[in-house]
Amino acid sequence: MDTNSILFVVGARPNFVKIAPVCQALREQGGLSYQIAHTGQHYDRMMSGIFFEELAIPAPDFHLRAEGKTHARQTGEIMMKLEALCQAHTFTALVVIGDVNSTLAGALAGSKLQIPVAHIEAGLRSFNRCMPEEINRIATDHISSLLFAPSHTAMANLKREGLESRSCFSGDVMYDMILKGLKIAERQSSILAELRLEPRGYYLATLHRPYNVDDGRQLREIIAGLSRLEEKVILAAHPRLRKNLKRFGIVPGSNIQLSEPLGYLDFILLEKNAIKIVTDSGGIQKEAFFIGTPCVTLRPETEWMETVAAGANILVKCRTADAIVRAASCEKVPQYGNKPYGNGRAGEIIVEALQARFCCRNTQTT
Ligand code: UD1
Ligand code: UDP
Repeated sequence: MDTNSILFVVGARPNFVKIAPVCQALREQGGLSYQIAHTGQHYDRMMSGIFFEELAIPAPDFHLRAEGKTHARQTGEIMMKLEALCQAHTFTALVVIGDVNSTLAGALAGSKLQIPVAHIEAGLRSFNRCMPEEINRIATDHISSLLFAPSHTAMANLKREGLESRSCFSGDVMYDMILKGLKIAERQSSILAELRLEPRGYYLATLHRPYNVDDGRQLREIIAGLSRLEEKVILAAHPRLRKNLKRFGIVPGSNIQLSEPLGYLDFILLEKNAIKIVTDSGGIQKEAFFIGTPCVTLRPETEWMETVAAGANILVKCRTADAIVRAASCEKVPQYGNKPYGNGRAGEIIVEALQARFCCRNTQTT
């Protein structure tokens, strides 16, 4: 079959949140057909399927079902399956998003087949090459032919690395999504009542970075910190966290309410009403900034320095229980005046650029 459309390559939870506004803009602006390949990196319903349902993302056209457990196996398996898919169809371009292994695998498979690759959320740098995501970002940016930067800092990074001519500032697709999502969540979600929570009566926490959850001593220290907070903590547990709590026999304190991963609408409503968010997620720190809930980030550094500069995000570099309690109790008032992540139209800007570049294009050239 000759599809002659662009192909989104997605696989992990944050990818789904990020393509939703782009898919919506494609539907509204028309002119460019698209298909979706799901790599299978995340597969539980609460890590994958629910996002397609809640965010009106069309069901994937292709399921690659990559099951590799190590980085190389996961990336390699996705590449092999994508290569076969791209050889069986004609895609005008591949679009990859963010910094997960599915992103790098998509960019590598596409660029080696000389199919142009567009990277959404390009130019972010943590300057910590021990993070697999940093390797994925750098490699993906350098082999992609169209780069969409979510912030001016990201644009500056791309310029410094000689990639300016392929780059454009789009703003951040997660900002688009939260503006739309909150309105829906406020109408539809009953999560506060379900969990018996009062607005500003609880902390919301997530953890999934390998350096926080795969290391038993570090994980025990973080859970000890959260257990000392005076209010309830809703800990929406990523599968990686749940597996490691069990593996190390760590029992959270009685103030911690462990939940399954939550759907996006419930989760962002919890973000909006929390006293503070404590997380090591990339996307959640930024969502906290968008909706005005102070954030404590359990990481040595962040790609989203604008949130720190605004006083809205405190980095806890050395993640001891004492440091976590101190940061969670800090009463510094954030300054939310600046809007460093665009105007909430990133999806439309990206689609306009994709149309300008790929509409009515039949040949595969970089
Ligand atoms: C991945 C990304 C990380 C991103 C995170 C978002 C890479 C290198 N890491 O990390 O950048 O912040 O997703 O959540 O791409 N698992 C399940 N069910 C699922 C999904 C995963 O049980 O639906 C298990 C896997 O089997 C594995 C573990 O969780 O044991 C980790 O999954 P993996 O995708 O490898 O890495 P994440 O930690 O999720
Ligand atoms: N999220 C969600 N339910 C949860 C935890 C997170 O819907 O239980 C959403 C969150 O609102 C954000 C995205 O998932 O949009 C962030 O994904 P994650 O933290 O897994 O990845 P990261 O951003 O660190 O790559």
